[in-house]
Amino acid sequence: MTSDPRHPTLPFPHVSVIGAGLMGAGIAQVCATAGCHVTLRDIDGAQGAKAKRAIEASTAKLVEKGKLTAEVRDAALAHIAFTDALGAAAQADLVIEAIIEDLAAKQALWREIEELAPPSTVFATNTSSLRVADQAAVTDRPDRFLGLHFFNPVPLMPLVEVVRTDAADPAIVARAVDFVRRLGKEPVLAHDTHGFIVNALLIPYLLDAIRLLERHGGTIADIDIAMKLGARYPMGPFTLLDTVGLDTVLHTTRAMQEEYRESRFQAPPTLERLVAAGRLGRKSGKGFYDWSVEPAVPIEGGP
Ligand code: 3HC
Repeated sequence: MTSDPRHPTLPFPHVSVIGAGLMGAGIAQVCATAGCHVTLRDIDGAQGAKAKRAIEASTAKLVEKGKLTAEVRDAALAHIAFTDALGAAAQADLVIEAIIEDLAAKQALWREIEELAPPSTVFATNTSSLRVADQAAVTDRPDRFLGLHFFNPVPLMPLVEVVRTDAADPAIVARAVDFVRRLGKEPVLAHDTHGFIVNALLIPYLLDAIRLLERHGGTIADIDIAMKLGARYPMGPFTLLDTVGLDTVLHTTRAMQEEYRESRFQAPPTLERLVAAGRLGRKSGKGFYDWSVEPAVPIEGGP
């Protein structure tokens, strides 16, 4: 695929995304829409099929809204290959990892990919909370390893944090910045500290909203309305928590708590309980809201 790029001038004509969850599917979609050949790899075939449906639905919505032409949509869909084979996915100019937020799992994945990928391939992690250097260190190419942190929902969110470690080659970082712009997104450079820029500020805010709920400061519905109308946030904190995924927020919170040991990163019991109950937010049908009905209704009264 690399030998037949659709857009040879793209900084990374062939991109592989590892992990076909919410983020992986979104990243694959925006790369394909920008003209890359994309390989989306998941060990679970059912997850790959779910990602395919999500990409079809998302691009259909963007076409309906006039944000994407049907022609670009069709070309993008035709250039995403779904696979469960890591060997195929490693043959790319850029490999972006979007698996679970677990350092040991990510390191094991990179060790495997390192064996399979050409030396020229650039590696990127979409981690939201772990140190990029801890992943780069298990590969032989820390100079070609960086963070590319996308935001949820990826097709709509215009920001990507480009995270550079001390070992990263400045030319690779510059290429990644250029690539992000070619995806139609705005890059910001972030240093390799847990939470980078956005989550370092956003996660404590989301956890504070849960703590406010726990001490009966307001209902889910009222806290959401308050922050939308009183602070002009596009979504209230509970809608955002459900959109990001409560399991993702919990993983991020734990990683940041482990690093900083500050009470503001301590997971509130309600978050722990909802995740244990499988209420992960929009993607599982229920979180703080019940998403099986339209419009979603808040589930007041706790888990
Ligand atoms: N693809 C295409 N369309 C999508 C979509 C997707 N993936 N997800 C939602 N939509 C559609 C909806 O279906 C809805 O369509 P409709 O209008 O036909 O009902 C539409 O987008 C939503 O439209 P709205 O009018 O409500 O909102 P906007 O289009 O103005 O904005 C938004 C939507 C950009 C999601 C806005 O609400 C927003 O900015 N929310 C905050 C999101 C945010 O903060 N994300 C960051 C989370 S943190 C993170 O990801 C980091 C991680 O590491 C934890």
